[in-house]
Amino acid sequence: MDNVQITTQLTIECKKITKSFGAWGEDVHVLRSIDLSARANEMIMLMGPSGSGKTTLLSIIGGILHQDSGECLILGKSINDLKEAEKTKFRGQNIGFLFQYFNLVPTLTATENAAIPLILNGHPRHEAFEKSAALLLKLGLDKQRNYSPKELSGGEQQRIAIARAFIHNPKIILCDEPTSFLDHERGQHIMQLLREIQKENHCTLIVVTHDQRILEFADRILEIEDGAIVHKSSNPATPKA
Ligand SMILES: Nc1ncnc2c1ncn2[C@@H]1O[C@H](COP(=O)(O)OP(=O)(O)OP(=O)(O)O)[C@@H](O)[C@H]1O
Ligand SMILES: [Mg+2]
Repeated sequence: MDNVQITTQLTIECKKITKSFGAWGEDVHVLRSIDLSARANEMIMLMGPSGSGKTTLLSIIGGILHQDSGECLILGKSINDLKEAEKTKFRGQNIGFLFQYFNLVPTLTATENAAIPLILNGHPRHEAFEKSAALLLKLGLDKQRNYSPKELSGGEQQRIAIARAFIHNPKIILCDEPTSFLDHERGQHIMQLLREIQKENHCTLIVVTHDQRILEFADRILEIEDGAIVHKSSNPATPKA
């Protein structure tokens, strides 16, 4: 695929997504009508007050939660209409997740943690571990590759989580508050890493954040207000593809 095709390709198309929670009669309408499109190579930052539905939206895009109505096309497929097994496979191949809590498996080493998506996608273990070790080397974690998560600092754990999110080259990476537990310097470093890997992989990043200090990395900044997306700004500091 040439670069022009890559940059114009829509990877996410959400149209009129709604989602409510609660028992019949006392529903809380969290997402009222969400329209959101994203392209390959784009980093979108999603902001909004606590409880505005950011994690809910990421969960719908990631095929973890079903919308009540509206369409959510991921790489052209209506992810939440796929059968469960098909959805798990599709998600495993095409989507990477990065969370505020690093969610590393405490009984596995750094290398094993980062290799999880490849193993779930059926790659032979030795190949998965080799690829994981190479990625950790690139992320400056060679020395720590046999450490367990409790032996790693917060920044190191987050870099392992990044390796795990990207190792299978997914087209879409969904990040929920990826820097909120990190100090300024570590947060900047993590965002630079995300940008670099994104450029290599031509993927789409949606980053939910409250962290004003990382907004400079965004191509577009969107805000959820009253259950809908408000297009807040394009980031003038980021050159457009
Ligand atoms: N499974 C659930 N059952 C009932 N209510 C839920 C559920 N998940 C989320 N909610 C409600 O939906 C609203 C939006 O939650 P969500 O986690 O998406 O917000 P958020 O924007 O990510 O907030 P934060 O910035 O605090 O992480 C909240 O009022 C929350 O209580
Ligand atoms: Mg949230």
